[in-house]
Amino acid sequence: MGFQALRGTTDLFADEVERWAAVEQTVRRVARLYGYQELRTPIMEDAALFLRSIGETTDIVQKEMFRFQDRGGHEIVLRPEGTAAVVRAYLEGHLHKTQGFAKLLYLGPMFRAERPQAGRFRQFHQYGVEAIGSSSPWVDVEVIALCLDMLRACGVKSCSLWISSMGSRDDQQRSAQALRERLAPQKATLCKECQTRFDKNVFRVLDCNNPQCHTLAWETTAGQEARGHFASPFLLTQDSQARFDEVRQGLRSLGIAFDDTQVFARGLDYYTHTVFEVRALGLVGKGAVAAGGRYDHLVEELGGPAVGAVGFAAGIERVLMAAGPHVSAAASTRRGLYLAIATPVLLQEGFRLLQQLRERGVSAVMDYDGRSLKAQLREADKQRCRVVAILGEAELKAQAMTLKDLEQGSQETVPLDTFVEAVAQRMESACR
Ligand code: HAM
Repeated sequence: MGFQALRGTTDLFADEVERWAAVEQTVRRVARLYGYQELRTPIMEDAALFLRSIGETTDIVQKEMFRFQDRGGHEIVLRPEGTAAVVRAYLEGHLHKTQGFAKLLYLGPMFRAERPQAGRFRQFHQYGVEAIGSSSPWVDVEVIALCLDMLRACGVKSCSLWISSMGSRDDQQRSAQALRERLAPQKATLCKECQTRFDKNVFRVLDCNNPQCHTLAWETTAGQEARGHFASPFLLTQDSQARFDEVRQGLRSLGIAFDDTQVFARGLDYYTHTVFEVRALGLVGKGAVAAGGRYDHLVEELGGPAVGAVGFAAGIERVLMAAGPHVSAAASTRRGLYLAIATPVLLQEGFRLLQQLRERGVSAVMDYDGRSLKAQLREADKQRCRVVAILGEAELKAQAMTLKDLEQGSQETVPLDTFVEAVAQRMESACR
């Protein structure tokens, strides 16, 4: 009986790895333009970090964390998201003292035990940024601009930005109270889970998957001034409203289009003020390709100073789905050299040349199993090598090699003693 990858996890083979690497390179390049530095945090964290930050009543914490006890009985999780871990590292690495305002990029696998379906995995991968240490609305604007720039640079053409405000913590407390009062008469018709949520964290009713709860939670707010389909359950003070206006004004000044007609809540507890989602055309369901927002209390709640922060994360699988096949043109271009040998006797001489090419920075491969010359040439094509060089007794005798450039369809003979240099120069323009 063979083994299979676990449900919701996937292997990536060569072509896909090329596309992934292209996304990773692009993201790092764009992040540098905006002054973000990469941070790598462990895949395992203390479970309490996520209970405290994402919130005990959220779906992620209640149903989706891969959680286990280590041998010492400590509660460990495979990180379900990056934000809490980045804030922990920001504090543990004393960045709040050495940098104050830190702009951090991260990439890597995240784990959620969700029901696997199109675009939803148990091990998925995010790239994301966190700008920690500022409450300026301009940082919200910068993070959103960066998010869109990265998506564009990764080849995601048709996507739309949705923004909303969840208000300050005070606003949220008043809003929760109001929502609870409005939902109270219908509490018995909410699902079992939402009845608990009603008491513990009523906002979670807003993103219940059960359509009945969802509709009730949003429709009961319709008594207020209508914005779009439903009125906002978030009662914003003038200050919070002004802050949201500043963010929108900033986006407009950069020519960034957005939709603010649909108020929404995000399913993690740490958010305050601006929240946003980028939805891509062609993605199954209403899953976002990237999402984020401001979280002004998380640093303090995890034991640091009272400073604001904002960030986003994008699902790399979804970015690739939304970008289609054109993410990496490099994946289809030919590269490297295939050294075909006419007889196995020449293996040693061939291997010596191969190593010289590699030292010179040229990707080079050959056959070690005595296949026919014809089979080797077929293999060179299959591996999408750019150049084939044939080494036979005749070549050795003449001290010259024939180079076939499969991309340009050309052929030339070069002296054996300048062979490595000639190949290196030919490849210089191509990506090795
Ligand atoms: P999130 O909305 O939970 O936010 O996830 C962000 C993105 O990760 C989603 O928009 C989606 O593209 C991808 N994603 C999430 N779950 C899955 C899954 N099961 N399979 C495939 N892709 C998935 C966060 O994680 C926050 N930490 C974002 C943030 C950063 N907020 C502030 N800073």
